[in-house]
Amino acid sequence: MNNAPLNILVLVSGNGSNLQALLDAGIKIAAVLSDRPGAYALERARAAGIPALTEIPAKGLAGDERRLELSGRILRHCRERQIGLVVLAGFLSVLSGDIIEEYSGRMINLHPALLPKFGGQGMYGENVHRAVLAAGESESGCTVHLVDSGLDTGRILLQRKVPVLGGDTPESLAERIHREEHIAIVEAVKMMLEGLKMEET
Ligand code: GRF
Repeated sequence: MNNAPLNILVLVSGNGSNLQALLDAGIKIAAVLSDRPGAYALERARAAGIPALTEIPAKGLAGDERRLELSGRILRHCRERQIGLVVLAGFLSVLSGDIIEEYSGRMINLHPALLPKFGGQGMYGENVHRAVLAAGESESGCTVHLVDSGLDTGRILLQRKVPVLGGDTPESLAERIHREEHIAIVEAVKMMLEGLKMEET
């Protein structure tokens, strides 16, 4: 049995409360990478003594080219640091190209809705909660899924539900879901670590 720890890379774009949930749960993280230089998540990483990396999408490129180029740089970090699991925790760039293949079954994303509903193009942040309220849903929640070449389409690992309450605003719904995300991301990472370690033995 291989007892070497599996190196985890967490990708972030903003506050990083989900990253914090992982740290608070005692999950060892090898590095944190943000696509935005000012992301508070980077502060959290530094405070925890974890390498905090920044890779900003290239300004001169657009669309697919931009995604591919950024994904290539992230893949290089993964290879250099021998990353075994990539966790997208509030990461707003879309990944494409070789990283999808190379990390197939080893890359997960957290989405603030009950997929397959309310996923795909434009469905991030407050947009998701606004769409859920506009559709008159009685429940929402969060999903952790494997990343594949589609947008929010990979195999679902777990979901946690919350009720949508009368008088909810996108903010109040987001806050209720956020609390569940912090539980879900920890659970999903532990699940993945178990599964991936079993693959190694
Ligand atoms: C979460 O709602 C996550 O589902 C979404 O972005 C948010 C990130 O929150 N993809 P945080 O940066 O972890 O606080």
